[in-house]
Amino acid sequence: MQRVLGLVVLILSAVVVEAAASYLALDGLHALVQRRLADHAGSFTFQSTEGEGDSFVISDTKGKPGGITVECTTVSACARGLYTYLTDFGGVDIWWTGSRLDQLPSRLPAVGQPVHGTAVVPYRYHFNTVTFDYTAAFWTFEQWELELDWLALRGVNLPLAWVGYEYILIEVLREAGLSDGDISSFLSGPAFQAWNRFGNIQSSWGGDLPMQWVDEQFALQKQILARMTELGMTPVLPAFTGFVPRAMSSVYPNASIVNGSQWNGFPSTLTNVSFLEPFDPLFATLQKSFITKQQAAYGANVTHIYTLDQYNENNPFSGNISYLANVSAGTFASLRAADPEAIWMLQGWLFFISETFWTNDRIEAYLGGAPSNDSMIILDLYSEAAPQWNRTSSYFGKAWVWCELHDFGGNMGFEGNLEEITTAPIDALNSPGSSMKGVGLTMEGQEGNEIVYDILLDQAWSSTPIDIPSYVTSWVARRYLVNSLPSAAQEAWRILSTTIYNNTDPSSQATIRGIYEIEPAVAGITDSATQRTVPVPYDTNTTIVPALQLLVQAKAENEALAAVPEFVYDVVDVARQLLSNRFVDAYQELIVTYNSTDATSESVQRAGQPLISILSNLDSLLGTNENFLLSSWIAQARNWSHGDDSYAAYLEYNARNQITLWGPDGEINDYASKAWAGLISTYYIPRWQTFINYLASITRLGRAYDSTVISGQLLFIGQEWDARIWGEGPGEHWGVSGEDVWELVDSILATWA
Ligand SMILES: *[C@@H]1O[C@H](CO)[C@@H](O)[C@H](O)[C@H]1NC(C)=O
Ligand SMILES: *[C@@H]1O[C@H](CO)[C@@H](O)[C@H](O)[C@H]1NC(C)=O
Ligand SMILES: *[C@@H]1O[C@H](CO)[C@@H](O)[C@H](O)[C@H]1NC(C)=O
Ligand SMILES: *[C@@H]1O[C@H](CO)[C@@H](O)[C@H](O)[C@H]1NC(C)=O
Ligand SMILES: *[C@@H]1O[C@H](CO)[C@@H](O)[C@H](O)[C@H]1NC(C)=O
Ligand SMILES: *[C@@H]1O[C@H](CO)[C@@H](O)[C@H](O)[C@H]1NC(C)=O
Ligand SMILES: *[C@@H]1O[C@H](CO)[C@@H](O)[C@H](O)[C@H]1NC(C)=O
Ligand SMILES: *[C@@H]1O[C@H](CO)[C@@H](O)[C@H](O)[C@H]1NC(C)=O
Ligand SMILES: *[C@@H]1O[C@H](CO)[C@@H](O)[C@H](O)[C@H]1NC(C)=O
Ligand SMILES: *[C@@H]1O[C@H](CO)[C@@H](O)[C@H](O)[C@H]1NC(C)=O
Ligand SMILES: *[C@@H]1O[C@H](CO)[C@@H](O)[C@H](O)[C@H]1NC(C)=O
Ligand SMILES: *[C@@H]1O[C@H](CO)[C@@H](O)[C@H](O)[C@H]1NC(C)=O
Repeated sequence: MQRVLGLVVLILSAVVVEAAASYLALDGLHALVQRRLADHAGSFTFQSTEGEGDSFVISDTKGKPGGITVECTTVSACARGLYTYLTDFGGVDIWWTGSRLDQLPSRLPAVGQPVHGTAVVPYRYHFNTVTFDYTAAFWTFEQWELELDWLALRGVNLPLAWVGYEYILIEVLREAGLSDGDISSFLSGPAFQAWNRFGNIQSSWGGDLPMQWVDEQFALQKQILARMTELGMTPVLPAFTGFVPRAMSSVYPNASIVNGSQWNGFPSTLTNVSFLEPFDPLFATLQKSFITKQQAAYGANVTHIYTLDQYNENNPFSGNISYLANVSAGTFASLRAADPEAIWMLQGWLFFISETFWTNDRIEAYLGGAPSNDSMIILDLYSEAAPQWNRTSSYFGKAWVWCELHDFGGNMGFEGNLEEITTAPIDALNSPGSSMKGVGLTMEGQEGNEIVYDILLDQAWSSTPIDIPSYVTSWVARRYLVNSLPSAAQEAWRILSTTIYNNTDPSSQATIRGIYEIEPAVAGITDSATQRTVPVPYDTNTTIVPALQLLVQAKAENEALAAVPEFVYDVVDVARQLLSNRFVDAYQELIVTYNSTDATSESVQRAGQPLISILSNLDSLLGTNENFLLSSWIAQARNWSHGDDSYAAYLEYNARNQITLWGPDGEINDYASKAWAGLISTYYIPRWQTFINYLASITRLGRAYDSTVISGQLLFIGQEWDARIWGEGPGEHWGVSGEDVWELVDSILATWA
């Protein structure tokens, strides 16, 4: 741990620090091996070596046949060295769907010539503030363990760590004299904390945040931080941001407090969050209080890197250059006063999303408030599609991280640009005057398309762009771990990787979800996440269709594939995409029928049937797999209630509302939609049926389409659905359905290919 922090200082200030490598605490790696590869617990030896940066050497252990030695300059490098052995020699991997590391051959393959590896950047970063809600809102420590092992092995050394923030914040606000009522009227629900932390929203809908939640998240955070630390990662911890309850103005009438902007149409009771301006001395007092309490809770040297965003989708009170410089100077000074080694991490989304406000002058002034170049780390959040570092002279010299965003709201759908994510970070690193110091993953939801995330983290250990065809081949071989993998499986991925994962259109470089998840309308169905109206930027017939046929063929040639969870996951995922894309055609035919001069109520109903039939096929398909279930999300949420029914209902409402209306009245309706069994049958199908019925009825009555009428009906369906208790609504079922996925996929291919 200390070694990692030592390195950070070394790299950023270019001062040569000779860290005593023998101090590396490698116990966390032995524990990882024990956890994931218990049969080989005695086979791996980890050793510290001297050296700059993060590098490792893997070799056969001298005098110990079958033993493998990993030498490293940092704990993270040892984890990466272990991963290199496990993947390149052992042929196994750990996935979001589970760890398959225990399938390592019982006789460990020898390394032969020692293998060297070096990170090309000091930071390998992971998470977006909102991933903590879109993906991890209800995670147990068991889920965190899988995640952290996945991260550590891939060489991530800088993960964000937001869990439990409210515990510390509440203590700070109480100490400042606010009442518990003042505080609870500020905090948002368990599925919406990220946006409260960002100062986009305040308060909650569906009930106040219970202290039980706050306390349990705090306890979870202690486990998470201990594990991150032992795996060689430096957690990025929160700080005091300036966002405060409204009552702060009454308790401190002279404090400089302004209202932030309105966020996404939320009423001002839920947004326009009060912001204590950082040049007010009270800001520094609260910062000191926050960091002191956080250090007391987690340890003084767990980290010196703080995540702190004041203007994420929330424009400053003033655009005056000296105001902006003053805000950041005050903020940074407060951090350094509380922690003399503090580094400020900023999520750089604002510079893209509010590009008109954030002119280069303003960016330079705001970043300039933090004095030296090593005082901040900027996450260039959407580097694969909308980089900002290149318009800001490499953030005017501040350290920054090349990040892949890719997934909005945890939406599901195939998309990627493997060439861009392997070449652009290397080009950025080598560009003249570059202050790039890392690569990272900043997906809003950690969801699907695992290959695009894998390849970027692997790119962090290669100074030249990874060769894509050979990468894909070995990735597929270890993902579908059977003897004699049929070539059809490789061929399926050759097609996907050269088409769908070679999407060179920068305007569509984000997960491409099905339009059936978006509120029905006759025209202008736009993806709220990407603002795109063109739903599928590739030809389904020459990509998804043959890929699915080839995967099915591979399974017919080697039945062992049916027992490989990642293979079955991919088959379901590709079949999901086929139905999702066919829905677009069916929708267009419905609208053409409705618009035609000879439309009748019957012809509209008839044209609507394929939509419903695709969705019910989709629901059945997804219902066969535990990774595609609404019930998993709701069960995770309810599980935190420990059997208290009213608390369970509260958690369930939070879980349901996030993926549907997102706000009490559909403020960002469908933003975080999902392709999940249960959600399709009980929500999307009723919505589309209501829409089809509406079109049929106005056709019969000769009335004009009125979007307010249909929107009102759909909002009512949403509010009714969000308030349901699992299992009490029609068509809801727990767990996987038990239907035969292979029969379903055959019939989907027969009907929809
Ligand atoms: C606020 O400022 C006013 C006028 O300067 C002063 O009279 C008052 O004492 C101050 N109140 C507090 C709580 O500091
Ligand atoms: C912020 O908004 C609240 C309530 O909407 C209002 O009462 C208050 O005056 C506003 N504060 C400022 C400084 O504008
Ligand atoms: C909320 O912010 C909007 C600007 O985004 C502003 O027009 C409005 O006056 C603010 N409301 C309050 C109560 O501060
Ligand atoms: C934290 O590290 C500093 C030096 O880096 C050391 O002086 C201090 O004692 C450490 N604090 C704790 C609580 O370990
Ligand atoms: C910006 O703020 C400074 C200091 O308050 C002031 O002198 C200056 O006139 C302001 N500039 C503009 C363009 O408002
Ligand atoms: C920041 O603004 C405050 C209040 O207007 C002022 O007292 C202070 O001098 C300013 N600081 C800087 C560095 O401009
Ligand atoms: C930055 O790079 C992106 C992607 O390559 C490009 O679209 C954009 O025009 C560049 N901006 C500037 C100012 O060079
Ligand atoms: C920060 O980096 C920029 C660009 O490399 C350089 O011009 C500037 O002098 C640096 N600032 C400091 C304080 O070192
Ligand atoms: C990706 O697409 C680009 C542009 O269409 C093309 O030049 C390139 O050959 C494609 N790469 C692969 C691996 O198919
Ligand atoms: C794709 O295949 C379907 C079904 O065979 C066919 O109806 C459609 O016209 C094809 N589309 C294209 C673009 O070739
Ligand atoms: C259907 O009609 C609506 C207006 O009623 C129009 O906005 C829309 O573009 C039409 N769509 C098609 C596919 O013809
Ligand atoms: C419920 O919580 C327990 C204890 O943390 C955990 O072991 C179990 O896996 C959880 N179940 C679900 C469905 O999240």
